[in-house]
Amino acid sequence: MEKLVINGGKKLSGDVKISGAKNSALPILSAVLLAEGKYLLQNIPQLKDISTMLKLLETLGVSSLQKENDVTVINTENLELFTADYELVRTMRASILVLGPLLAKRGRAKVSLPGGCAIGERPVDLHIKALKQMGADIEVEHGYINAKCNKLKGSIINFDIVTVTGTENIMMAAALAEGTTVIKNAAQEPEVIDLARFLKGMGAKITGEGTKTIEVEGVSELKSVDYSVMTDRIEAGTFLAAVAATGGKIKLLNCPVWAMTSVLEKFSEIGLKMEVSEDSIVAVMDKKPKAVDVTTLPYPGFPTDMQAQLMAVMTLSDGLSVITENIFENRFMHVSELKRMGANIKLKDRSAVIKGEDKLTGAQVMASDLRASASLVIAALAAEGESQVHRIYHLDRGYEKFDEKLRALSADIRRERE
Ligand code: EPZ
Repeated sequence: MEKLVINGGKKLSGDVKISGAKNSALPILSAVLLAEGKYLLQNIPQLKDISTMLKLLETLGVSSLQKENDVTVINTENLELFTADYELVRTMRASILVLGPLLAKRGRAKVSLPGGCAIGERPVDLHIKALKQMGADIEVEHGYINAKCNKLKGSIINFDIVTVTGTENIMMAAALAEGTTVIKNAAQEPEVIDLARFLKGMGAKITGEGTKTIEVEGVSELKSVDYSVMTDRIEAGTFLAAVAATGGKIKLLNCPVWAMTSVLEKFSEIGLKMEVSEDSIVAVMDKKPKAVDVTTLPYPGFPTDMQAQLMAVMTLSDGLSVITENIFENRFMHVSELKRMGANIKLKDRSAVIKGEDKLTGAQVMASDLRASASLVIAALAAEGESQVHRIYHLDRGYEKFDEKLRALSADIRRERE
């Protein structure tokens, strides 16, 4: 186990290059199950979750080699392999993304139920309901989803709740189904658009991606293709939150500005001065952050994956702010740890009321989930004195070289063994 030791109170300055998006790379890696052959996938971040996905694909007959941020993948179609084992799935919920492609291409899938995680129960009932509607025969028993189907049928799928991986699973399954599938109340996240672009490169017929209604006309087969994954809007937003909390001036390179409208609006409300070009942002913070209210919503609303990071900034704001978490039922695990650093936060149902303080003080804190870890690092960077952030394996799941990038921005941060 490792921890991060941070001496806070220093302003950030310098350039940071944004990595490929984890939540785009994961569905794209699952989609290689739809067509045998060789793929060169670029801009794939070097993360724990990515290596877990590559291990899972290996158990399904897909070999891969990651060199820096390029991954060569070879899918040697093996119809006998269709099980996503509990041992792997329990370490990464996004493994559910192999369900749709396996069913569509190999006619069978045996995927362990992902189970919950720190931020919530994380059910997959909507994925299962939609695939049943497309003709799959699905039993859920002994902790596994057992699915069978010779040929999925195009259907009209109306999601009761907007689900990102649910939309992605059905879009992938529909690509090889008989006939046309219409996905209503679809997730509009940029990562859904990126996956659609990849699938269309493979020969899929998809329209409407990025809107609430996606239409997929099934084709008989797809082909392998090379692709470069979009960069990570949440990593970029996390660095904006860091400089908003510490003050200073940083430049973000390779930034997916097109996918960050709601985040940029919120940070300019907070008083972050930004010079925005097509793929870079120069961000300057030279005063106390303004208190703002925020409610997390499906895209294009303010992303739930930025909620914890924003809260860290609000602990040092000039007033009262209310943060409402609408997507997950338990995504305030960072609150008790932030309070150990002197933050003034009160929880009520799905909202947190934060009263900005003049300063935070460094403390020993415990990471609980991916974005909570980022929130604690941001608070530690701004706090007076030394902090130690424990259980940073959570951080390594979703941030590539996070402490290295922060050191390059003149933060006093180092990684040590526990
Ligand atoms: C994706 O998770 C992301 N993960 C999450 O990022 C992100 O927080 C989330 O979307 C919301 O934006 C990946 O893309 C790999 P959902 P996902 O299905 O698809 C309920 C991170 O930090 N729901 O959109 O699992 C669910 O309980 C991670 O990188 C059902 O009820 O989220 C939640 O309340 C964390 N039944 C809401 O929908 C279902 O079948 C949205 O969940 C599916 C979802």
